[in-house]
Amino acid sequence: MVRSGRAMVRLFFFVLVGCAEWSATLAGAQGQGLSSKGTDNPTTRDAGLVAWQQVYSVLTHPRCINCHTATNYPQQGDDRHRHLVNVVRGTEDKGVPGLNCATCHQGANADSTGVPGAPNWHLAPLSMKWQDLNDKILSSAEVCRSITDRSKNHNLDGTGLLKHHAEEPLVRWAFQPGHSRDGTARALPPLTHDEFVAATRTWVEAGTPCPQKR
Ligand code: HEC
Ligand code: HEC
Repeated sequence: MVRSGRAMVRLFFFVLVGCAEWSATLAGAQGQGLSSKGTDNPTTRDAGLVAWQQVYSVLTHPRCINCHTATNYPQQGDDRHRHLVNVVRGTEDKGVPGLNCATCHQGANADSTGVPGAPNWHLAPLSMKWQDLNDKILSSAEVCRSITDRSKNHNLDGTGLLKHHAEEPLVRWAFQPGHSRDGTARALPPLTHDEFVAATRTWVEAGTPCPQKR
């Protein structure tokens, strides 16, 4: 009795593992390629939402969000304080004549002076703000909706967003942010650039699902 009971347990275990492996293979196969159908599959959608939370943790890190403000000025540092010398947004997000971003921000970090740099340094448009006027970071659902809204994101689909995260110099800068004026290295986002791109890919392959709430 005892022996056959154990055999039954074993058999059950093998069937269980077999099923899990089989459904994982299926989910993997659906995850690749068929991105438009991704959201229809609950497994893929869940994996996509988990990946989105990782993407969100980077988007809302000071290295990114200091440029994605709701105010008429950029922020600085890990405490996201107002930018020095009252730098303002200006009409094209590039500052004002005489004090535009490129006056100080060059194409690469200038670590001797502590001025960070990357090509075409300027503020993200107000339509791409990820915080409110009191500097409170918007919810995961709100940020997700805004970056997937093609009327706000330069008409990028999932593939376009993936490319932006992989290649855009201002995004890449955040992972090599240089030193501040006092010589301390700027803090890095919670994922490496490779991990961030991989998480974005998983989310895009799942059909860029967004959390339901608020
Ligand atoms: C007068 C020179 C000057 C101008 C003009 C200027 N910046 Fe800066 N900016 C700096 C310096 C210096 C720092 C570094 C301060 C530090 O780290 O202590 C900085 C830092 C930043 C940071 C902080 C990065 C971080 O994550 O901590 C952002 C974002 C930024 N600037 C955006 C802008 C934008 C956008 C504009 C144009 C609207 C602009 N800046 C115009 C000098 C300038
Ligand atoms: C120096 C300022 C700056 C920093 C730092 C920055 N961004 Fe942006 N971001 C912009 C600007 C400007 C745009 C609008 C696109 C344009 O004008 O080229 C933008 C747009 C975007 C968009 C929407 C795509 C689009 O074309 O509108 C995404 C997604 C994005 N940024 C992600 C990030 C992420 C992720 C980080 C950090 C890893 C980051 N950004 C850091 C300035 C910045």
